[in-house]
Amino acid sequence: MAVSPAFSICQCEFSSPLRFIPRKKARPLFSNLQDGSEQPSSEPAAIELEFLGPDGKGDVLKTSVKSGEKVLRNVMRENKLELYGLYGKLMNCGGGGSCGTCIVEILEGQELLSQPTSAEKKHLKQKPGTWRLACQTIVGDKSNAGRVVVQRLPQKKK
Ligand code: FES
Repeated sequence: MAVSPAFSICQCEFSSPLRFIPRKKARPLFSNLQDGSEQPSSEPAAIELEFLGPDGKGDVLKTSVKSGEKVLRNVMRENKLELYGLYGKLMNCGGGGSCGTCIVEILEGQELLSQPTSAEKKHLKQKPGTWRLACQTIVGDKSNAGRVVVQRLPQKKK
């Protein structure tokens, strides 16, 4: 009479209780920041801005901003550029798009700016197509780069 063993060793591959599956070696998160050997991700593109005075020449200011990060009104305020005429100085809405007093003219680089908003379409209906509201205009789209020339206070241009 044959006696069955207490244990049997099964040769099939699915019954093994301890089966280790080799895994890929884990990489630490932010490995590029730990050893400093790799370059950080590329910087956003830059938009070069040039601001002309109300007469279309004279006090030119040049600056640069990261594409898609700033509204034109904020760029002008940071650079202490006069944006408003007399009425706008007293009555502007603070960048809400409701007063229509922050008008600029884009002489070059219109394609590098955001599309006109409904507030701009409303306030600039009868104005030249190159006029924009600075508080509604985003400079760049995070990927484009180039040069934008802005005429301040185009209402005063003769
Ligand atoms: S600041 Fe009022 S519309 Fe731009």
